[in-house]
Amino acid sequence: MTLRIGVVTAGGDCPGLNAVIRGIVRTANSCYDATVVGFHDGWNGLVNNLRIQLYDNERIDKILNQGGTILGTGRMNPYELESQLDAVKETLADNQIDAVIPIGGDGTLRGARWLMENGINVVGVPKTIDNDVANTDYTFGFDTAVSIATDAIDRLHTTAESHQRVMLVEVMGRNAGWIALHAGMAGGAHMVVIPEVPFDVNYIEKVMERRFQMGESYGICVVAEGAMPKEGTMTLREGGIDEFGHQTYTGVAQQLGDELEKRLQRDVRTTVLGHIQRGGTPTAFDRVLGTRFGVHAAHAAARGDFGKVVALRGDKIKLITLDEAVGHTKLVPTERYEEMKALFG
Ligand code: F6P
Repeated sequence: MTLRIGVVTAGGDCPGLNAVIRGIVRTANSCYDATVVGFHDGWNGLVNNLRIQLYDNERIDKILNQGGTILGTGRMNPYELESQLDAVKETLADNQIDAVIPIGGDGTLRGARWLMENGINVVGVPKTIDNDVANTDYTFGFDTAVSIATDAIDRLHTTAESHQRVMLVEVMGRNAGWIALHAGMAGGAHMVVIPEVPFDVNYIEKVMERRFQMGESYGICVVAEGAMPKEGTMTLREGGIDEFGHQTYTGVAQQLGDELEKRLQRDVRTTVLGHIQRGGTPTAFDRVLGTRFGVHAAHAAARGDFGKVVALRGDKIKLITLDEAVGHTKLVPTERYEEMKALFG
């Protein structure tokens, strides 16, 4: 009997997902004569048997450069998923699936670990624009998000200079400052604020003020959505926790911008990039990384190397355990941020 692999994309979408799917299908077809079955809308597809057969090499090639995911995605509360083990097992039996490849971030990989613990063969693929999955140097989607944010910062330079304004740009990343740090460096921002290092509004005010005193006519500050003020310096509006256990944000850049405008007595404008960072065509880097992840995940599934996650270590794709992938969130080390401080101001 030939091998049958099930694929699910879950959590927020991310440029490069389709490259992974193509990598899996091509490898499964060409190397193992295996069949790949996709399930729609994240875990929901496994619970409700929403299948789509992905067998056509020619059609699958056309998705390489497409953003989003042809399988659709969605978030599912982990408790809801865990209450549906029988339904998931029924779907897998109905489709004669030997192994599942879930592609997703921390939440999805935790779901993958739970499947594995319950007797389902799994090989995980890490995905997120936030680049915060542990034990992989990069996740695909990050490079595209950074490129989009960098392009936005490039554009803000010219309008900020024309109007002699301070411009703040808020980027995604949840609790990790990778997108902010990399886009800020690539875009030549004059200040970068990340969640890992609580910000001091007095310091940011001073950096911006000094720029004007030195004869510069504008300033750009990149703010990660999860940035928090140093205790006792400024208060942000309270957010909450959503049904998936994620922090909801209240617009830190706008609040910081309002405070800076009062203090600097200058025009301050805020741009929130939001989901633009996740949309559109993936960069070449993300297509290559996504493809390599897909190819290696399919080989691992065919070999029966289950309970593993593909990861980038240096320039090699390695298999790490599910525990290693979900053990902790990969944050920007403080020294990495400090080393960039020379670029501020
Ligand atoms: O984890 C990826 C991410 O884009 C975060 O950077 C962001 O905070 C979140 O997802 C947004 O989620 P949603 O698409 O559900 O609004």
